[in-house]
Amino acid sequence: MQKTALIIKRSGKTIGLVPTMGGLHEGHLSLLDAIRNKCDVLVASIFVNPVQFGPGEDFKRYPRDFQRDEKLLDERGCDIIFYPSDDEIYPYGFSTYVNVENLTDGLCGKSRPVHFRGVTTVVTKLFLITRCDIACFGQKDGQQAAVIKRMARDLNIPVEIVTAPIVRESDGMAMSSRNNYLSPEERKRALCLKKALDIAEHMVAEGECDTTEIIGEMRSFIELVEGAEIEYIEAVDPDDMTPKQKVDRPTMFALAVKIGKTRLIDNCIVNVN
Ligand code: PAF
Repeated sequence: MQKTALIIKRSGKTIGLVPTMGGLHEGHLSLLDAIRNKCDVLVASIFVNPVQFGPGEDFKRYPRDFQRDEKLLDERGCDIIFYPSDDEIYPYGFSTYVNVENLTDGLCGKSRPVHFRGVTTVVTKLFLITRCDIACFGQKDGQQAAVIKRMARDLNIPVEIVTAPIVRESDGMAMSSRNNYLSPEERKRALCLKKALDIAEHMVAEGECDTTEIIGEMRSFIELVEGAEIEYIEAVDPDDMTPKQKVDRPTMFALAVKIGKTRLIDNCIVNVN
């Protein structure tokens, strides 16, 4: 991949990258659409990154169906699929990690202490291997997008980071590879994440700007849903992830909720009218 990328770059062409862990759905494919016209060669990577999963998380269970993913990427006009093995990315004796501080402390970082270090390490490697000029990440993982933007800025990585909007099912549920873990009954309950975000949007539209009030309403709503266990509901600055007391400029309401054994996340960015 790195040799191919160097040849492409020497011919004066630009490279766009969509990093994925496979299990592709419309959300991933929309990331290709978001940067297709901003680069000459479109690369997608598929790598279930072991170091971003903690003990007891779903690394082993994560969907792996390369043929299905390959077909979807081909149909969507992806030029190159980079599909490395674990050993290629983490050779014997691997000892170098990239860590973004502060932004990774809260939200998902609290319950998944090694997660973002794993993400930033693999994304740095994917940037260096593919030599991409531009890369696209989904707003569904809003904290991840902010962390990667900060990493690229702090380390002077010459890659433009684009964030693409959350893609939702017709009932509002955010698309995620992990939705496949849900039973039909859990799938119905899982809609409570989006409905809680709708409550936040509605309250802000009605003039409420105290985030404690808004989070309180979101929490009360989810607590009524059987089998739903709240991990966090927070209001933060979408760029630096610091907690916000008031919605006085763009504010991200983000939540993680367990439906049965499946941990789901979602978010929305609101602003005062
Ligand atoms: O968002 C994901 O699927 C992963 O965290 C990423 C960015 C591909 C890194 O493994």
